[in-house]
Amino acid sequence: MKILVTGGAGFIGANFVHYWLENNIGDKIVNLDALTYAGNLESLKDLTGNKDYEFVKGDICDEEFIDKLFKEQKFDLVVHFAAESHVDRSVLSSKDFVITNVEGTMNLLDAAKNNGNVRFHHVSTDEVFGSLGEKDKPFNEKTPYDPRSPYAASKASSDHLVRAYFHTHKLPITISNCSNNYGPYQFPEKLIPLFVTNLIEDKKIPVYGTGEAIRDWIHVDDHNRGVEMIIKKGVIGETYCLGGSSEKQNIEITERILKLMGKGSEMIEYVEDRKGHDLRYAIDFSKATTELGWSPVIDFDKGLEATAQWYKENQDWWKKIKSGEYKEYYKKQYQK
Ligand code: NAD
Ligand code: TYD
Repeated sequence: MKILVTGGAGFIGANFVHYWLENNIGDKIVNLDALTYAGNLESLKDLTGNKDYEFVKGDICDEEFIDKLFKEQKFDLVVHFAAESHVDRSVLSSKDFVITNVEGTMNLLDAAKNNGNVRFHHVSTDEVFGSLGEKDKPFNEKTPYDPRSPYAASKASSDHLVRAYFHTHKLPITISNCSNNYGPYQFPEKLIPLFVTNLIEDKKIPVYGTGEAIRDWIHVDDHNRGVEMIIKKGVIGETYCLGGSSEKQNIEITERILKLMGKGSEMIEYVEDRKGHDLRYAIDFSKATTELGWSPVIDFDKGLEATAQWYKENQDWWKKIKSGEYKEYYKKQYQK
């Protein structure tokens, strides 16, 4: 198979590229990424010279370029990760979120439709379902959409478009809505890598509000295995919820990270709460279990410890990000 992965220089996409090439020998991946602040080719450095992997710098919002790429490369499958992904940035400004997540997705759908109805998997989030109360039942595929941040609203919009192309144009799509991922190569603006790297640097860790918000954490490898199973066994036109069976309050995560890093609670700085902060996300993934045989297998404590260890051992990777130096790698490799 020849696969177009969008956003493969980001956190989940880079892990996906590694995962797929290791587990699907002979498949070819073209990684299309605009290298925004979140895209980092250092995460894929080990693939230099791999004949099954190609990097293409490009913007999913550039309609003509995308159509040309599909015509030239003749993909069998699109796995669409590229997005603006950070809620806090969407609180500051929605524009890039609407342009990339909605218009960019539309351009990819059009290119897939106009170039042989290419199989399309759309990677989405549980945040499209809104926020749960402490006693509410977890989200499932039938939960009505109720996005509450501009990020979630833009992802919800992209999900609707993907489904519309299935119904209107018979585009062979599937969608996954997954909970909060953690693991290697995550940009240190998200909770876990921010806290781990701050503590390595002996900096304080900013807990929003009282730290009472709850997220359901899943290791990125479990997520990507779920995406693989949907691609291989999922029913066309269907949506699958993926979750980690690991609901934790932010303050609980914070305490676990402090312990792993050998630091005390004096490192916590309680800061102003996020605007419109969703209280709780949780996922009922029984459809994926029943229909695909998927469930998460990575234990949260073990996964968190391994992730903290990865950030300890790969300080060069995230220190370059925190200093902004990571963009230099792209310039050296790809701009003559
Ligand atoms: P990320 O921000 O780490 O990576 C996004 C990647 O997309 C970057 O490499 C960036 O350069 C690229 N990109 C952005 N705009 C682009 C454009 N216009 N054209 C081409 N490339 C562009 O994000 P992530 O955490 O890896 O998330 C990947 C996908 O998974 C997103 O669609 C996100 O909504 C979804 N998701 C994320 C989580 C999570 O916990 N991180 C959970 C569920 C779903
Ligand atoms: P984040 O990693 O940004 O993921 P999302 O907002 O998509 O769930 O945040 C996870 C939780 O951690 C969320 O409830 C906000 C909280 N948070 C903090 O308390 N401090 C921080 O510095 C960050 C980035 C997040």
